[in-house]
Amino acid sequence: MAKANEMLGIGIIGSQFSSELHAEAFKWVKGARIVAAASPNQKHVQDYAQKYDIPKTFTDYRDLLADKEVDVVCIGIPNHLHCQVVVDAAQAKKHVIIEKPLCTTLEQADQMIAACKEHGVQLCYAETLLFTPKYVKMKELIDSGAVGKVYYVKQAERHFGPHSDWFWDVEKAGGGFMMDAGCHGIEFCRWILDWPKIKSVYAQCDTIHHHDKGLGEDNSLLIIEFEEDALGLVENSSVRRGGMDDRAEAFGIDGTIEANLLMGNALNVYSEKGYSAYAGEKISDTKGWTWAYWDEVMQYGFHEEMKHFVHCIKEGKKPIQTGENGRAVLEILYAAYESAAQGKKIAFPYQPPHKDVIPITPWLKAKGKI
Ligand SMILES: NC(=O)c1ccc[n+]([C@@H]2O[C@H](COP(=O)([O-])OP(=O)(O)OC[C@H]3O[C@@H](n4cnc5c(N)ncnc54)[C@H](O)[C@@H]3O)[C@@H](O)[C@H]2O)c1
Repeated sequence: MAKANEMLGIGIIGSQFSSELHAEAFKWVKGARIVAAASPNQKHVQDYAQKYDIPKTFTDYRDLLADKEVDVVCIGIPNHLHCQVVVDAAQAKKHVIIEKPLCTTLEQADQMIAACKEHGVQLCYAETLLFTPKYVKMKELIDSGAVGKVYYVKQAERHFGPHSDWFWDVEKAGGGFMMDAGCHGIEFCRWILDWPKIKSVYAQCDTIHHHDKGLGEDNSLLIIEFEEDALGLVENSSVRRGGMDDRAEAFGIDGTIEANLLMGNALNVYSEKGYSAYAGEKISDTKGWTWAYWDEVMQYGFHEEMKHFVHCIKEGKKPIQTGENGRAVLEILYAAYESAAQGKKIAFPYQPPHKDVIPITPWLKAKGKI
């Protein structure tokens, strides 16, 4: 247990997109304050620290880990770097909040989980969809019997592609857009259905548009066949124009729930000339109709996510999302890319033949890309 009645010191590792969301969220978390930030780009980290009033900055995350005021690190850096930073943080006896996906290989996942266990620190897996207020309400309604037994659950994330170059590099990301966004939908389906066992996974992956950006696929469908007669469908597209579209549906024997995460809460704006104010994630053009999101960080669930993790770390409780959850998601991603490579269902339990290669490898081989 860490400092139940004291202020937890948060060290942020990373200083761009996700770290902005983390800093915005921590403003709303009682009992924790950001004491330091680290990122190799000195200008970025200094600008970031100034914006969020963070007293200390480092260009080497290991100096942040040596800081006694830091109790917890919140990590928002490219996927291939997650493992080393988490293992180093555990060795420095810092609790860990790590962004999705957990890492890029199952071998790394095992190392991260083992290191955090060995050093007695929490490994909190930051899957925001389980904290998204609209989806939390959806789960509450389902659990109260609103739609009866759920036989089909669906989650989709679609936009025109990630914001940083490293996402398009399969070695750094671990895969294409199914790896980046599909990890959300996989855990969402498992959560809504109360984590049932999996019978099989089937996926279809294609590169529809972004042939010049990297080797990974940009459009995919992933079907998870669960025990207890339920199906999950995870739809991911980085070819969809018009900004971020995140939605979910649950179909039960007695009813249906539909949730459009962002647009349902947005301002519906028509602008003949466009506007320069921030409209929302991945909205590149503000001419014509836009759905301007006024409460994006909260809608995504970052506030509730950080509140939950801080509470669990202080009270020594197991969070709803741990390294094991991130590992289970990764296992499904391995099966999904294998399925897309073979063009057939992959039965569970599934053990990928090589835990040290990135999940997309069989699909890249099948397509002759490597
Ligand atoms: N939960 C969500 O909805 C969500 C949204 C976006 C990103 N993410 C995840 O967050 C992570 C980061 O993505 P992002 O969008 O912030 O990327 P980004 O490209 O915007 O930022 C990456 C950051 O990592 C820093 N960095 C690079 N190498 C580093 C190192 N060796 N040590 C410390 N910092 C280093 C960079 O300086 C930069 O600040 C990824 O795992 C991504 O999947 C999650």
